[in-house]
Amino acid sequence: MENIKDIDAAALVQEALDARNNAYVPYSHYAVGAALLTEDGEIFSGCNIENASYGATNCAERTAFFRAVSQGKRKFRAIAIAGGMEGEKPVEYAYPCGICRQVMREFCKDDFIIIVAKSAEDFQEYRLEEILPFGFGGESIR
Ligand code: THU
Repeated sequence: MENIKDIDAAALVQEALDARNNAYVPYSHYAVGAALLTEDGEIFSGCNIENASYGATNCAERTAFFRAVSQGKRKFRAIAIAGGMEGEKPVEYAYPCGICRQVMREFCKDDFIIIVAKSAEDFQEYRLEEILPFGFGGESIR
């Protein structure tokens, strides 16, 4: 079972906050950063990248996942997420959207840890099974 105490959550949150500075958000002005920790200890960060065709926007979490998977990583322990209005510090915890939860479900086990953060000192952690119960996964497809 994955344990938050074995993870340097504050360091992971700081990576998410740093990545958030690169968010491309000319439409919503809502900037998100994410930092994904692989099983072998590497961190892949990501930000949200918007598009004038709004549906082409990519969330920060998926940017981090797709960067990691495209580099050959498939096993993950935790992700830290921080979001809020551009140029301001996060005032609320930014929970991952449904599409990003489904991407987590593709690559992560039930005990994958999701850390939602306002700062490196103020964060909460959940397990994937808590935020995506009864999820649909590839094991159902023959
Ligand atoms: N966004 C994320 O990056 N992650 C989420 O989990 C929720 C939403 C982004 C998408 C869009 O650029 C902006 O936040 C407003 O929806």
